[in-house]
Amino acid sequence: MSRDTALASAPGKINVSLHVGPLREDGYHSLASVFLAVSLREDVRATRRLDPGIGLSVTIADGLDVDPDSIPLDERNLAHRAAALLAAHAGLEPALDLEITKRIPVAGGMAGGSADAAATLVACNELWGCGLTREELATLGTELGADVPFCLLGGAAVGLGVGDELTTALVHGLVHWVVVPAEFGLSTPEVFRTLDRLRDAEGFDAPEPHTVDAAILAALRSADAHALSTLMVNDLQRAAVELAPELRDVLGLGESLGALAGLVSGSGPTLAFLCEDASAAHALAEALRHEGHAALAVDSPGAGARVH
Ligand code: C5P
Repeated sequence: MSRDTALASAPGKINVSLHVGPLREDGYHSLASVFLAVSLREDVRATRRLDPGIGLSVTIADGLDVDPDSIPLDERNLAHRAAALLAAHAGLEPALDLEITKRIPVAGGMAGGSADAAATLVACNELWGCGLTREELATLGTELGADVPFCLLGGAAVGLGVGDELTTALVHGLVHWVVVPAEFGLSTPEVFRTLDRLRDAEGFDAPEPHTVDAAILAALRSADAHALSTLMVNDLQRAAVELAPELRDVLGLGESLGALAGLVSGSGPTLAFLCEDASAAHALAEALRHEGHAALAVDSPGAGARVH
């Protein structure tokens, strides 16, 4: 049955491991990655209105230091495009307002925009009574961004292709992190281009990545943070650090203040520090804030996009 309003949420992600392959003809890179959804979630409320069109408003949650004016409210916003795409797919004229509550760092490598798109797809699917399955929404979501299917799925998953060919991974128990957003954003295409440039200069021909390290999946299955800390890898990290060398200092700071290991999240510049347990994560977040950094204690895995 269709309704007047629907509220949905979707998680941000950390790539616990990210191997980047060669540039493809479609401008994307093939990947092999282990995606992990975290407890930071975006909320999207979709409400019917009389006038045709898609209205968008954004509220920044406490603890996230973002200028709301920096977020576009038109079709540049992935939530706007998600609603338009589902409406076109369902053959209806959109007439709705979308209210987004942001908790995931913006342009930070944690799939905040993709989570908005995932939550919007789920909210509009409910609002309009479209009845699409998660898989059908994921197929649509791939058109919006490579991370949208994972934000729909949540939990932990191995991602191949451009990150959209997902296989769920088992996770038993929680793994704890501190997420450190930067005061600046990095452009994802620029980070990928920088990696290509660094590799070209070295004469390195990236192999096609077909698989992820089984030991990482074993560490996640047993929520073994110590094992995980020795295995995490992100091919994009050197490119993000090349574009923003200050990230290296913050990585060193987090590790010196007690993190088991730190890494750039996705294309960055958000950093993710793995911690021994929840109390270690809260202590590290406090210590980093004391040093003048925004820091959020989060846990994983988080559930995929869902209606509330
Ligand atoms: O799909 P999404 O909008 O997140 O990707 C943004 C950009 O990041 C792409 O246009 C592409 O330049 C780069 N990218 C890539 N390979 C991927 C994912 C993203 O090169 N697997």
